[in-house]
Amino acid sequence: MNEEATLQYQYIEKAKLIIAQKAKDKGSPLTCCVQTFGCQMNARDSEKLSGILKAVGFVEIEEENADLVIYNTCTVRDNANQRVYGRLGVLNGYKKKNPLMKICLCGCMMQENTVLDKIRSSYRFVDLIFGTHNIFKFAELLVRMYEADEMIIDIWKDTDQIVEDLPIERKFHFKSGINIMFGCNNFCSYCIVPYVRGRERSRKPEEIISEIEGLVADGVVEIMLLGQNVNSYGKKLENPITFAELLRRIERIEGLERIRFMTSHPKDLSDELIEVMKNSKKICKHLHLPLQAGSDRILKAMNRCYTKEQFVELALKIRREIPDIAITTDIIVGFPGETHADVLETIDVIKTVKFDNAFTFQYSKRTGTPAAAMENQVPQEEVTRNFDELLAVVQQTAREQALRFEHQTLDALVEGINEHDSSLVTGRLSNNMIVHFKGCPDLIGKIVPVYLKECKGFYYLGEMK
Ligand code: SAH
Ligand code: SF4
Ligand code: F3S
Repeated sequence: MNEEATLQYQYIEKAKLIIAQKAKDKGSPLTCCVQTFGCQMNARDSEKLSGILKAVGFVEIEEENADLVIYNTCTVRDNANQRVYGRLGVLNGYKKKNPLMKICLCGCMMQENTVLDKIRSSYRFVDLIFGTHNIFKFAELLVRMYEADEMIIDIWKDTDQIVEDLPIERKFHFKSGINIMFGCNNFCSYCIVPYVRGRERSRKPEEIISEIEGLVADGVVEIMLLGQNVNSYGKKLENPITFAELLRRIERIEGLERIRFMTSHPKDLSDELIEVMKNSKKICKHLHLPLQAGSDRILKAMNRCYTKEQFVELALKIRREIPDIAITTDIIVGFPGETHADVLETIDVIKTVKFDNAFTFQYSKRTGTPAAAMENQVPQEEVTRNFDELLAVVQQTAREQALRFEHQTLDALVEGINEHDSSLVTGRLSNNMIVHFKGCPDLIGKIVPVYLKECKGFYYLGEMK
């Protein structure tokens, strides 16, 4: 264990004493609630927060009227920020009734100065703020928070540290995300992630493998390798290794059943990766390949480093090599200067590649990014019109694609009981589609063959075989 991790374990011991004393005064254990906004990366970070909170003696609950609430925030689009501000008001109401209550904020939004200023001036009731780079200091920050009477703010500009071996509390016992790299160097012109997550750095393959082995020993059957651009994994390590080679090594881990990864930048997707995916027994038949836009002019302004033709060629090559793969994507509508003709180019790609699904976003102006300073911002009515037109094509294509698998029997990993009908369980297919079928709770975490009886557009109704 490195020095920093050892130090944090000392803080965990210290925090334990503080929390135990408070629980004694209260007459029951202290409760905490961790809320995640944003992507899988943040969800994994939240598991690290939960791990520390549990280790120091908190009991985690779902409700936000807990003794400690922490929001792990996202700032990729403005609506994520607005949700945080809205809900902070509600938290203040709880805090007025519970003098023990502490409110903490962390994550991507906190890396922005404008946000910090706003919280300092208008949300004085917040107790602790930290960012994305010092999350490994959470135990230490907790101690500082309980020892101080004023708002603690600790934000780092960047870090090259990767601190391993701290406690993690997983949300699911059978599947887990795993960071393989942090940060991003791509600077797509609309995107704030490189500014709030710092420069790209990869974890060592040995650390990743040993983490996965530990998870598998603990009952995990499916893993999701996480990075903003997994295809550039390992290039800058002391002993460079490709992402495809990392996958080969992970494939050999006995007991591991399924491997997923996110996200693949099209510019770096290698033939070696396609080959590994094609021959793998464990890598899921799903590739998330963000397109963002189909017009060359817009792609260039976005700094995506590929053309429409290159993207289509790549996607069709993948479809040829791995016919039963599902390809999903991200699309932005309303980037500065985007015309209806540009949107038609994007629609053309959707129809050609036949995405199995797409996350579609309206462009959101992020302060500090090059696109925010561009003059030709698109009026909202135009964005809405283009967005609706494009979304209809995405949905139509997705429905048609889903029909491909109807009447097949495929393996599903059972993830939980159906929310609306408790006689059904919900499973995830290798291609990331969802199937509901009759089954009991003890199937959760198991992979079972399911006949896909009926396609309902974005999910299936099935029967266990
Ligand atoms: N690293 C990933 C994406 C992370 S952000 C990749 O490059 O694919 C997830 C998605 O949010 C992006 O793919 C993009 O479609 C969307 N997004 C990012 N910035 C945005 C912005 N300013 N406005 C609207 N959508 C945005
Ligand atoms: Fe953002 Fe582009 Fe990096 Fe993805 S690759 S996180 S879209 S800058
Ligand atoms: Fe949001 Fe940060 Fe992820 S901005 S999308 S939580 S990397």
